[in-house]
Amino acid sequence: MASLELKQLVKEFGSGASMVRVIHGVDLQVNDGEFVVFVGPSGCGKSTLLRLICGLEDATSGDILLDNERVNDKRAADRGLAMVFQSYALYPHMTVYQNMAFGLENIGTPKAVIEKKVGDAAKLLRLDALLERKPTQLSGGQRQRVAIGRAIVREPKIFLFDEPLSNLDAELRVSMRSEITGLHRRLGATMIYVTHDQVEAMTMADKIVVLRAGKIEQVGSPLELYNRPANKFVAGFIGSPQMNFVPVHAGHGDTIVTAHNASFTKPTQTRPASGTELTLGVRPEHLSLQAADGALALPMTITGVEQLGGHSLLYGTLPGAGGKDGPRITAQVAGQVSTRIGDTATVYASADTCHLFSTADGETVVR
Ligand SMILES: Nc1ncnc2c1ncn2[C@@H]1O[C@H](COP(=O)(O)OP(=O)(O)OP(=O)(O)O)[C@@H](O)[C@H]1O
Ligand SMILES: [Mg+2]
Repeated sequence: MASLELKQLVKEFGSGASMVRVIHGVDLQVNDGEFVVFVGPSGCGKSTLLRLICGLEDATSGDILLDNERVNDKRAADRGLAMVFQSYALYPHMTVYQNMAFGLENIGTPKAVIEKKVGDAAKLLRLDALLERKPTQLSGGQRQRVAIGRAIVREPKIFLFDEPLSNLDAELRVSMRSEITGLHRRLGATMIYVTHDQVEAMTMADKIVVLRAGKIEQVGSPLELYNRPANKFVAGFIGSPQMNFVPVHAGHGDTIVTAHNASFTKPTQTRPASGTELTLGVRPEHLSLQAADGALALPMTITGVEQLGGHSLLYGTLPGAGGKDGPRITAQVAGQVSTRIGDTATVYASADTCHLFSTADGETVVR
């Protein structure tokens, strides 16, 4: 069990003219026993950060502290961390037992101790009946459990998972998701988990770290990020379907006016000057077909309808300037709808569910 701290961590690849900086001074605190999820667009540096933490890459500058001890100069094998990859990386010629025992044999662990540890891990992961099989005789989920078992037997200070479930089908992902959270509960271990999956991030994390181009955009609990995104990027990244963004401007007092001249009142602490260009953000699930007092009316020309039984997704555009299509809108409404492509449907957003972002820097939330 361990805590981890990153201080002004920088990673550059290459040198001279071909040097690229991929991690730009990351500061992060991971507490003992915490389940931390890294999310961010492809190429933002999630895997690089994990590789730096576990010692597969050397940091260019900055500090990596494990239980307050700087480990930058320690070899991966001496850091006591375990990484579980998307690709499982099992040895095909070895049995499940041998795959799990291999790391312990390498460091000279007595045979009886290995047997006990592998046995315990196999029981925990329900692999006890499969110990003599080879990886090719296992399902994807079973293989991933072996990969996790191999990490468990080493009793690492921190588990590092790099998209461990992305090769599995939807159903298996769901069951492996609860197995990993169950494992986290039982072991009480510190875990850092990279995923592209919104549901995994929201449901598994104590703390989500949103990365963009090698920098941290925001750190917070799943609901903090959902309810109070620090900027437009985080707002657009957390939540599915994605938050809608509509260009608006500040009117007099607390009014907010859209390009199609709808307005509503949204008090903000900063009260931007009349005429200031802003971006309004509203999540699809916060739009409703029912009119409500003080809600912003968004008249959508429907371009697509998806009926999912319990709820429906309406896709459309708002009126734009000069007869052109305006911004695209997705609305997730309860139940089933009779709306068809080509219809106009007005959806309503209440002020308390709307977010406002400064259009100038695309970042700052105007609270
Ligand atoms: N050995 C390397 N040499 C040069 N550039 C590298 C190297 N490894 C990674 N990069 C670059 O570093 C950036 C971050 O890569 P990384 O693999 O960490 O992204 P990621 O967030 O894990 O992406 P994905 O979601 O696609 O897995 C990318 O632009 C990548 O091209
Ligand atoms: Mg990656």
